[in-house]
Amino acid sequence: MIVTIDGPAGAGKSTVARGLAARLGYLFLDTGAMYRAATYAVMQSGDLKEQKSRIMVTNGIQIDVQGNTVLINGNDVSSLIRTAEVTRNIHFLADDPLVRSRLVKRQRAIARGQNVVTEGRDQGTVAFPDAEFKIFLTASPEERARRRHTERSALGEEITIDEILASQNIRDKQDETRTVGALQKAADALEVVTDGMTIENVIALLEKIVLKK
Ligand code: DC
Repeated sequence: MIVTIDGPAGAGKSTVARGLAARLGYLFLDTGAMYRAATYAVMQSGDLKEQKSRIMVTNGIQIDVQGNTVLINGNDVSSLIRTAEVTRNIHFLADDPLVRSRLVKRQRAIARGQNVVTEGRDQGTVAFPDAEFKIFLTASPEERARRRHTERSALGEEITIDEILASQNIRDKQDETRTVGALQKAADALEVVTDGMTIENVIALLEKIVLKK
């Protein structure tokens, strides 16, 4: 069975998808991490602004996602792909239809024959349109920014909620307006708005719904 979880940045998708996968005993697939890894690889050995270079680098690497660990050609890049610089540059790769089709192929190959909870922007619409269960996880922009602020302050970062909200608005716009793989609720997805809910509440709710199906 394939469960897809799509939604905007900061909706808690990764934590929820990871928790739900653990509860169900399913594989967890973080597709944002794959876009991050491809972006990092092009930053290291290519030119983000050149499509030829983006494709050459992306075609020449093997990306593996094993739980929280992300590998490029077997090398652990899990923390290297979480920098603000990578986040800022992702749109070069995420807006490229050829990169997207390559990564979608890889996502399908990883999921083949497995029970999976997969998380991203286009999982229920493009990557797995026939998934048995689709969730669109969202929260208000202010709530998402507040959550990110709590997380980042806990890591000792000095940043205001307004600064987070401003960069979140830019990412939302980029995610919603890309011509291929834009963030969109699949017609048959269940929308879950998580304002005021704890992550634990959300995971428990989704587990109940999936198991009932
Ligand atoms: O979930 P995340 O923040 O790690 O994702 C990083 C970026 O990757 C996000 O801004 C949009 C892009 N992305 C995408 O275009 N398609 C996906 N399936 C997953 C992520």
